[in-house]
Amino acid sequence: MIDQATIDRILDAADIVDVVRDYVSLRKQGVNYWGLCPFHSDKKPSFSVSPAKNICKCFSCGEGGTPVHFIMKQESLNYFDALRHLAKKYNIEIQERELTDKEKLRQSNRESMFIVNNWAQTYFTDQLYKHEEGKRIGYSYFAQRGFRDDIIKKFQLGYSLEKRDALAQEAARKGYKNEYLESTGLSYKSDKDGKLTDRFRGRVIFPVHTLSGKVVAFGGRILKKDAKAAKYVNSPESEIYSKSRELYGIFFAKQAIQKKNHCFLVEGYTDVISMHQAGIENVVASSGTALTIQQIRLIHRFTKNITVLYDGDAAGIKAALRGIDLLLEEGMNVKVVLLPEGEDPDSFARKNNATGFTEFIKNNEVDFIRFKTGLLLKEAGNDPIKLSELVKDITKSIAVIPDEIIRVLYIRECSSMMNIPEATILDEVKKSRESNSEKSPSQRKYTSQPDNQPKPPVDPGQPVDPGLSIEPGQQGEPSFPVTEKPSVFNKYELALLRYVVRYAGTTLFEYTDPETEEEMVIKVAEYIQAELARDDIFFSLSLYKQILKEAVEKEAIQKEKEAVEKQREKEAEANGIEYTRPADFDKDKFNPQRYFLYHPDQMISKLAVELINDRYELSKIHYKHKEQEREEDRLPQFVVKDLFTFKHAFIQQQIEESGQQIQDAITRNDEDGVFRLMKKKKELEDIRMILSKEAGDRIIMKM
Ligand code: CTP
Ligand code: MN
Repeated sequence: MIDQATIDRILDAADIVDVVRDYVSLRKQGVNYWGLCPFHSDKKPSFSVSPAKNICKCFSCGEGGTPVHFIMKQESLNYFDALRHLAKKYNIEIQERELTDKEKLRQSNRESMFIVNNWAQTYFTDQLYKHEEGKRIGYSYFAQRGFRDDIIKKFQLGYSLEKRDALAQEAARKGYKNEYLESTGLSYKSDKDGKLTDRFRGRVIFPVHTLSGKVVAFGGRILKKDAKAAKYVNSPESEIYSKSRELYGIFFAKQAIQKKNHCFLVEGYTDVISMHQAGIENVVASSGTALTIQQIRLIHRFTKNITVLYDGDAAGIKAALRGIDLLLEEGMNVKVVLLPEGEDPDSFARKNNATGFTEFIKNNEVDFIRFKTGLLLKEAGNDPIKLSELVKDITKSIAVIPDEIIRVLYIRECSSMMNIPEATILDEVKKSRESNSEKSPSQRKYTSQPDNQPKPPVDPGQPVDPGLSIEPGQQGEPSFPVTEKPSVFNKYELALLRYVVRYAGTTLFEYTDPETEEEMVIKVAEYIQAELARDDIFFSLSLYKQILKEAVEKEAIQKEKEAVEKQREKEAEANGIEYTRPADFDKDKFNPQRYFLYHPDQMISKLAVELINDRYELSKIHYKHKEQEREEDRLPQFVVKDLFTFKHAFIQQQIEESGQQIQDAITRNDEDGVFRLMKKKKELEDIRMILSKEAGDRIIMKM
């Protein structure tokens, strides 16, 4: 863990223009900077960066936020890793929490393994470019395959010499311990003579990178025709490497996947590399094995649209069928493309440029269920037993799809493809779903939730903002009930929250209590809270309530500090001494914008970005701002007015409701009811009148 002081230092240092500039070229226009949005394919600059607010925002897709948000999104990191990333950029040393001895050992083990892998990667690349054997055998192999030099460099390809322990010896010279050569699997002790032997000797090297670009493993391809030896040798599973967790190419593909909202899935190293070279970068490989749930989840972080590209031969097709139910189960939208007979993505990409390739895919992409049905139908022919197996097989695939509407569509389609009544398939799907749900929880651990995904707060009056989408679990538990729905008054609630996030801590009213002669200070958040509570009105979402609660708490602390200062000033004055406040008094002042923007809870910080971005501003509607008029200067007026508007709308709705209830009571001939309800309505109308009067008085008083 990073300690708070360090977090503060990082947040202080991170300048939004500076951070965004690492990824986007920006042009200054007025007070803000503009560039092409890195999060969607942007044609004209819609990505704005505000140095004053230290936030960025795409006006087209809604993405953006603080420097931390930007890095999280851009680098696909969680909150703390984004902080670490920024710390590195600004040379801030991170004080992590003390680890236990056991953790330390593990940590240093893992670190050492990464260090050795990292060194080995540069070593292999050096051999490829500098060693006579590497150039002659390794580099010329890649060149013959048509790999361009920039692509070889990008994927950090390399060569491992034929000599039995060339790497192990060099590692020893450089001072790397044998222990780590063995734990990473770069070398192993031979069974015969117990001597250290390089695993990849005589092979070209494909390093495997993690999502964040660290080398976790290697694949080595043999160059000689040798029927006995495996074509590829891969690093063994280890403390840092689990084959089922990594996806080859993900580090190089993540940005393109995000941008295109689409991912290609291929089988092997060379497929990924050739497609990159052809200009298609949103591609990853499962490395010859069936896709695992962890790999799917990894892709799902960036997109739910996936197209599986496989060789047009029988083995390729069979491979395409395996594992795809898992994709469906995860709610992914899966398409399949069969390449022409005898081609794999690698060979096909070498014959086509990006446009030709994309064109082919567009014309040949088939929805997975349709693909599978067609394929199995062909296989089954007229064999009734095979046909009935086929129905079972297809229905099993349909049954795992979490979204009911999509399931129904597929059932319809397969019914017509297989010429079987819809009801029959529906029945099978139902059975299959029932038996799935009977499975033990551990078996179902990976089935998706039904489609009621966590939804961000939605304002019925305004379009849903994509920028508010929150990835649950990014930072551990989602802290708010995500199923809660905002009330019909959401617009008003957000308008008030906007003041809280911007101005909490600011003094709204100051007066002397006529009875106690005590000086009263009322701050923004506490005022809003008290005013709402007075009329039994509360914010609808826990998220909103939490923000208000934290603001009020911080205000209370701030008030306490200010009161102490005031007291000291008074005493000093009484003694004829000039008093100066401590230097850090203003620095330590509660700054709500910063507090909420950088709140470790994603839902809070994302909402803060929205609120600071000048939306939900009721007063803009109510008053015509004079040009240079600053909101801060007329805060009491605005807050009171917006509170009034909210309460008024609230009461109004209750009045209308009771009007309806009276009508109902009349129809029921319920005289008592009518009388009671009329009384209630009258009370509400009185409140409305008082409200209006109060609001009017306040405004007149304070203006
Ligand atoms: N693979 C593996 N071990 C093997 C064979 C294959 O790990 N013994 C993995 C590799 O990731 C490989 C992928 O499965 O990239 C696909 O295998 P294949 O199509 O045989 O290899 P290609 O990558 O196509 O290699 P090439 O085109 O050079 O034959
Ligand atoms: Mn191949």
